[in-house]
Amino acid sequence: MEIINMTQLNKTQITQAAQILTDSIPIGWPTLQDALAEIKALLVPGNTLLAAVEDGVVLGWGGILPAYNGNVFEIHPLAVRSDRRRQGIGRAIVTALEDEARKKGGLTIHAGADDERDDGETSFANVDLYDDLPGKIRDFSPGTHQSAFYMKLGYKIIGVMPDANGIGKPDIFLGKRLW
Ligand SMILES: CC(C)(COP(=O)(O)OP(=O)(O)OC[C@H]1O[C@@H](n2cnc3c(N)ncnc32)[C@H](O)[C@@H]1OP(=O)(O)O)[C@@H](O)C(=O)NCCC(=O)NCCS
Repeated sequence: MEIINMTQLNKTQITQAAQILTDSIPIGWPTLQDALAEIKALLVPGNTLLAAVEDGVVLGWGGILPAYNGNVFEIHPLAVRSDRRRQGIGRAIVTALEDEARKKGGLTIHAGADDERDDGETSFANVDLYDDLPGKIRDFSPGTHQSAFYMKLGYKIIGVMPDANGIGKPDIFLGKRLW
């Protein structure tokens, strides 16, 4: 498996990447067309999109977008093909994105992880996040949510947006120092 800049992918591989996105995060990108449009919009100078490719086939991909004059990079989006998860591919992509952000002078990298599926997956779902947020961060429990993945990679909760996806469905910000 290799990590490749997505500017080097051919049309078939871009379609594979889009398929992974719509399959993995249908709430954000319900159709293949939506996912293709997102990749096109993200593939612009300033952003970096990296794909994990094995035998010419895209297995997952992610991007970083600069913010705060390049001091901060946001991971957006990140998805690994469902039949290839838990094999280190997500970690390989994120590590490569961190290296890229560091090379560009980034000090902080972060991801927003929405807790929006079903009745909520983390201990932040369906609770009053205005009441003792520090305590709730200290006692955070990810359940089945993807925030567990970021925490395994050394990311810490650096903030939360209450009700970002409807009442009781927050966006959880996970960040990591790059220096
Ligand atoms: C989140 C995602 C990218 C992780 O990719 P992955 O290739 O399965 O992750 P890795 O195999 O590299 O996992 C790295 C570590 O995190 C752990 N991990 C991964 N997903 C996890 C989860 N949902 N819950 C708990 N731990 C998890 C792995 O077990 C591994 O731990 P280890 O180092 O102790 O073995 C993948 O599950 C995915 O595409 N999910 C759907 C889309 C999504 O949620 N994207 C993120 C939006 S913020």
